[in-house]
This record gives sequence, C-alpha cells and structure tokens, in this order.
Amino acid sequence: MVSLETTLAGIPLKTCVYNASGPRSGNSSALAKVAASRSGAILAKSATVSSQNGNPQPRTWHSPDDKASMNSEGLPNNGIDYYIESSTIEETLAGCKEGSTKPYMVSISGKTLDDNLAMLDKINTSPANIPLVELNLACPNVIGKPIIAYDFDQLKMILKTIQSKKYKVKLGLKLPPYLDSKHLSQAAAIINEYSSMVSYVASINTIGNALSVDPVSEAPFISSNNGLAGLSGPAVKYTALANVRQMREQLDKSIDVVGVGGIESGTDVFLFLLCGATAVQVGTCHWKEGATCFDRICNELETILQEKGYSSVQDVIGQLKPWSKEGAAKSRAAKKLETGGSAGATKTANGSSDFAKMLNNILLVVIAILLADKFGVLQSPTE
Ligand code: DHB
Repeated sequence: MVSLETTLAGIPLKTCVYNASGPRSGNSSALAKVAASRSGAILAKSATVSSQNGNPQPRTWHSPDDKASMNSEGLPNNGIDYYIESSTIEETLAGCKEGSTKPYMVSISGKTLDDNLAMLDKINTSPANIPLVELNLACPNVIGKPIIAYDFDQLKMILKTIQSKKYKVKLGLKLPPYLDSKHLSQAAAIINEYSSMVSYVASINTIGNALSVDPVSEAPFISSNNGLAGLSGPAVKYTALANVRQMREQLDKSIDVVGVGGIESGTDVFLFLLCGATAVQVGTCHWKEGATCFDRICNELETILQEKGYSSVQDVIGQLKPWSKEGAAKSRAAKKLETGGSAGATKTANGSSDFAKMLNNILLVVIAILLADKFGVLQSPTE
C-alpha cells in the first residue's frame, strides 16, 4: 500500500487531502461529513467576530461546462465563538471513524486587524484543541474591502502586529493568487520575515474580480457586488500550480505550502505535490460533489502513485522536473499507448482515406470528361 501521510506545520495528517475553508464547512453537521471521509483534516469556514448572513442571493454560479465556478458570498458564517465551542468540535469529530480522530482547524477572516486579533485572542485562550489557525488574507467578496494580501504595507503591518502578540497557536495564511511573479516574490519576501510565526501558506484563494454574464437576461448571474465574484474550479488550477511552485521555491523551508485551486482528481493532487505542496485543499469539487470527493480523490491518488512506483507522497513533494526532450518523448509514447496506438492509426486511416478521396475525385473527373466527349459537350463552338 502507498502512504498518503504528510505533515502540515509539523502536525501529522493521515492523508494529504483535506477540505478548503468555504463550501460545506459552515456548521458541525457539514464538517462531520468531512470528518467521516478520508479528508486528512477538517477546516471550518472563515469566521468573523459575530455571525452574519453574507451577501444577498444568488451569490454563487457554476459554468455549464463545469470548468468554472464563482461565489460572492460575503462571508456568511456562525461567528468565531461557534467554531471554537467544544460542542461544535465534538459534533464535528463525532463523524470520525470509531477510535480515530483528525485535526480540527479554524479559519478567520476579520473585517479589520482588530477583529482578527480579537479572534486570535479567543482561539489562543480557548480550552479547545485547535492546532492550527488559517488567517484568510485573500477574501475578494467583502464589499468595499480590498484583498488584504495585495496591499504589501498592510500585509507587513498585520504580520508584525500578530507576531508581537506571541500567540501559541500555529498560524497559516490563505493567500490570493499573484498573477505577476514580481508581486508573488514581494509577498514571499514579506512572509519570510515572519517565518518563525507563519507555519504554512495556502495558495490560492479564488481569483477575485470575475464576472459571469447571462446571455438570456443580459445581466450578471450573481446579484451581489454588481455580479463581481471570486473565480474557482478547474479554470484556476494552472494559476494555483504556478503560485504553489513559486511559493515553494521562494519561501523558507520551515513554511509549508498547501495547494488549493481547481483540484478534483488524484492526478490534480499529484501535480500539486510535484510543485511542492505538502498537502492540498479541495474547495469547489467538495461544494459540487460532497464529502465523498475526499474518498474518491484519495483512492485515485493511491492508484496513480502505485502505477508510477511511488510508495509515499513524500517521494513526490517538490520533485517537479525541468522540461526535457526525453520527458516529452516519454509523454508522447504514453499517450500513444493510452489510445492503443490509435493516435498513429488515426493518422494512417486519415492518410488512406485522403488518398481514397483523391482517387475517387480523379475517377469522377475522368468519367465526366468521357461523358462530355461522348455527347459532344467538349467540341468547341467553331468545330
Ligand atoms: C468568501 C469568499 C472567499 O474567497 C473567502 O476566502 C472567504 C469568504 C465569501 O464570499 O464568503
């Protein structure tokens, strides 16, 4: 059997796949389903100081081809007290298979730094066993509030202030996608200054400022924030891979990178591991498929590792190879094998059918000339 075990911020996880904060993570009954699955950990929905309903409906959308999703929920949640209450945690962990447990983590997304400090104070003094807190610096959907981690002065100030508090709870940062590698480097350099406090970064949150338009109503599909929303699903996977790869290259080794963005298969997880993720989070796929996605994705990951001859995810993490002619040739050969040689066969078949078509056309032209000759059509008017 292959091992999907990993560690996140030094905390052991039985599988390297767990839920992203957001979909199906707002209450203990949804979280208990995550607990019951092969998810390696349980991460609650981003909390604010007090409970709130979020933006008006409709505030979510899935593209008809299933490649993209959008949300502009505006942080509906039950408030931090709910997520750190012992009854919430007990009800959640009751979902775990008998005799087993898994790490329960919370996410916070305060509207101000003071809000985040107030929540961190509560978590830090709570008797509950919360080994990790994810500080969401990337929510694109709070109307009138820009994405925090795009403002580097603010990012520095927040990290400096939190560090001065010397909280004992371990801290991860949920980051937005950086679409310019220079911006990514600036963010990584700032985070590295706080490497004694930041245990991991989760890259990426949704790509903010997206818009889906309904051709029938000629209006946005989403009602809140003028239809502007965070983009997620397979459409963001390539941006996520690039952010994970570059974060892994540029962050201190003591800071883990968690991959998130468009993951919906074991192969997707494999790609994120290669790019340097020690674990991955699944958001949109969990939203669409439910918590059984963790079982499916873990099973698929086991199969792909087995097929490739790896015994553990640890053998894969960060092992992305540089492009090479040999690698590309191997990939072409594998594709040919996969299609049962039909890639080549199609070419031959196409080639012979093209040849047959040409013969056919020549034959038709010859027949036409013979007929025309027979009925005197070819005679010039002067003849
Ligand atoms: C919401 C969206 C996010 O991308 C996020 O990180 C937190 C909250 C939301 O709209 O509720």
